[in-house]
Amino acid sequence: MFSMQTQWNREMSNECLIVGLHKPGNPLSGVLAACDEAMDQHISQLIKSGDISDSKKSITLIHTLGKVMTKRIIVIGFGRENQVTEEDWKEALGMAFRKVKELRLNQVSIDLDSLAGANIPLERAAQLLGEVYMLSLYTFDGYKQNNIKAPVEIKEITLLSESGKTALLQENAHLGAIYGSGTNYARTLVNLPPNILTATKMAEYAKELANQYQFELEVLNKEEMERLGMGALLAVNQGSVEPPAMIVLKYQGKSEWKDVIGLVGKGITYDTGGYSLKPRESMVGMKTDMGGAAAVLGAMRVIGELKPEQNVVAVIASTDNVVSAEAFKPDDVIVSLSGKTIEVLNTDAEGRLVLADAVTYAKQHGADYLVDVATLTGGVIVALGNEMTGVFTNNDEFLKKVKRASEKSGEPMWQLPITAKDRERVRGSKIADLNNSPGREGHAIMGAAFVGEFAENTPWVHLDIAGTSVSKKSSSLHTHGATGVMAKTLAQLVVDFSS
Ligand code: BES
Ligand code: MN
Ligand code: ZN
Repeated sequence: MFSMQTQWNREMSNECLIVGLHKPGNPLSGVLAACDEAMDQHISQLIKSGDISDSKKSITLIHTLGKVMTKRIIVIGFGRENQVTEEDWKEALGMAFRKVKELRLNQVSIDLDSLAGANIPLERAAQLLGEVYMLSLYTFDGYKQNNIKAPVEIKEITLLSESGKTALLQENAHLGAIYGSGTNYARTLVNLPPNILTATKMAEYAKELANQYQFELEVLNKEEMERLGMGALLAVNQGSVEPPAMIVLKYQGKSEWKDVIGLVGKGITYDTGGYSLKPRESMVGMKTDMGGAAAVLGAMRVIGELKPEQNVVAVIASTDNVVSAEAFKPDDVIVSLSGKTIEVLNTDAEGRLVLADAVTYAKQHGADYLVDVATLTGGVIVALGNEMTGVFTNNDEFLKKVKRASEKSGEPMWQLPITAKDRERVRGSKIADLNNSPGREGHAIMGAAFVGEFAENTPWVHLDIAGTSVSKKSSSLHTHGATGVMAKTLAQLVVDFSS
């Protein structure tokens, strides 16, 4: 996918050359200066006249009209070198990739040296470039009969650098592409409609990953869940004609099965709310209620590719949450896998129920650290909006590591508290150990605190991605629809643990 070259020259024949430009654009240096000279100073003149912009997130396409063998040049403006953020940098580069795709070019050269700068060192730029390539070119083709003409793939990307670090840069670009494609994998799962992506289908996707990467796979069916006593997951599934699935993937990167990270995902393939039925407007979109499961599977893909020296057990609890004469009801009392009893006050607080059994099951499989990822509450959207994932923990040391991974991945999160009083509220049932819906006040916290009851003393982090798993605004990295959020962060966390 990425090849390297050390120098640009006017004889290099390309469909397109991408170069970066930091403010102030003139005087030019590097490849762009060489192009400028070969093109009778046209480039520097266009910068002077403002036709080529050096402002952040601006891209300009110019034709070389035979002056050099490169047919087109796309100039990416980044603004000031010491002001550009990774987010803006990635968006700007994504805009350039989009442009190349729009032009239906399958080959491009990129002057990596000019993309890097004070805030984005060269090695980092290479990795981010690989990621942006994947994220910006992602499409979910959908099911339209008269589909738009198939996009042309950018198959050949030549990275130019005079740094003498070509091998490392190529490796980094490849690494970034692996993280990006893990994210894209998660996005596709989330975008799939709920009649197609059932729990059974989710298990098939997990099986594919297991075959591809030699993970150990276990998929529990309903009878096995009944025998084990997974009463919480079974209750949510009770009204459905679609069988549930408890999916376990094990990756052993160490010689012994110890020091295990458990990645737990909420895999509700459709959430109607059950008898605590959602209003019609809030039900639309609930096919994305398996975003946590998708993030975990996306991360497992990255882990399968990178094979870090770390043990991982991924656990996904999957079912839909629907209504029928057999469905579970508010006022039911159920017994979870842990033995803890739960009074169901709201069948729409189903995520925490399936997570309860998944967290317990991850512990039974030896998890020493737990991260659960879930589109758990509308409350977290009210609290933090659509840009920040809500994060909760029972262990600040472990949280630090998760936050570090989130920063590296560009997937921001913000901590919300769980206090002793919050725990009292989830324990506040008169007839059972726990209550699944203690009221609207702080209900993102209630969801988290409930799941925390099952983590017990194991270091645990809960990620509520209800606001971040789907994006409303579109940028060059994310069209509307699934973001695949947390696939990168989870994989990064595992990689960080291994080093
Ligand atoms: N899947 C929803 C949360 C959700 C809401 C995800 C909006 C994405 C967008 C979850 O199962 C749910 O229904 N939560 C309830 C909890 C309440 C009943 C305590 C909520 O947030 O209202
Ligand atoms: Mn719900
Ligand atoms: Zn839900």
